[in-house]
Amino acid sequence: FGRNLFYHETTDSTNLQAKALAVRGSVEGTVVAADSQTGGRGRMGRSWNSPAGKNLYFTLILRPEVPSLRVPQLTLLVAVALHRALVRFVPDLQPKIKWPNDILVNEKKICGVLCEMQSEPDCTHFVVVGLGINVNQSEFPAELEGRATSLFLECGRSFSKPELLAAFLNQFEPLYDRWLIEEDLGFVLSYIEGHSLLQSRVVMVEQFNRTISGTVSGIAKGGELMLEGDDGGTVLVSSGEAHLSKR
Ligand code: BTN
Repeated sequence: FGRNLFYHETTDSTNLQAKALAVRGSVEGTVVAADSQTGGRGRMGRSWNSPAGKNLYFTLILRPEVPSLRVPQLTLLVAVALHRALVRFVPDLQPKIKWPNDILVNEKKICGVLCEMQSEPDCTHFVVVGLGINVNQSEFPAELEGRATSLFLECGRSFSKPELLAAFLNQFEPLYDRWLIEEDLGFVLSYIEGHSLLQSRVVMVEQFNRTISGTVSGIAKGGELMLEGDDGGTVLVSSGEAHLSKR
């Protein structure tokens, strides 16, 4: 991965650029990176603060030959790779995986992942996996204050962006190869649960048309969040945004 690398000083969104390249046939493993984005996109239609010179913004093109139902699992797989890369890079960082797609440090977001799948006329699909990693940013806009952090703010020094990108790709590629031949995420479940911010916590999961709450009992093999309700029953939640309830 990353042998084909497109670098933009500035672009609208690396996810949009990657989709345009994928439609034109770019190979799996192609990476589109930018120093800044004018229209950085987050999940749930939000924007992604993308100032120049500080952070990593990049998108990886994948062409997984698996049923499209399995594709949402990629978000957690990416989170595992990112977590491993961060720990290798900064051994005492203690990042946490927040289902389904965030990495937090001291309960503040340091990375976000936006996976988007698109079908092709020949019935295959490609996936663009966009990552925003707050590397050397020293201050955040008022609306993100207290909710976002960076490696610089956590460690008090700057980090090399290309080295962190390479560390992520080196962690992700073997996980992806294994995931393609496995049925599910079973092989990384204990890693996810062992580093999960939400494990055993009371959460509210916000979906488009409803909110579900309960205590997190784990992650299912399909990547769903397992929530135990007050009635003792367990529900599997496959998508949404999880918020920790105040205890
Ligand atoms: C989130 O909402 O947490 C996901 C944020 C993903 C941001 C990255 S930055 C690189 C790539 N290009 C985009 O427009 N978004 C993703």
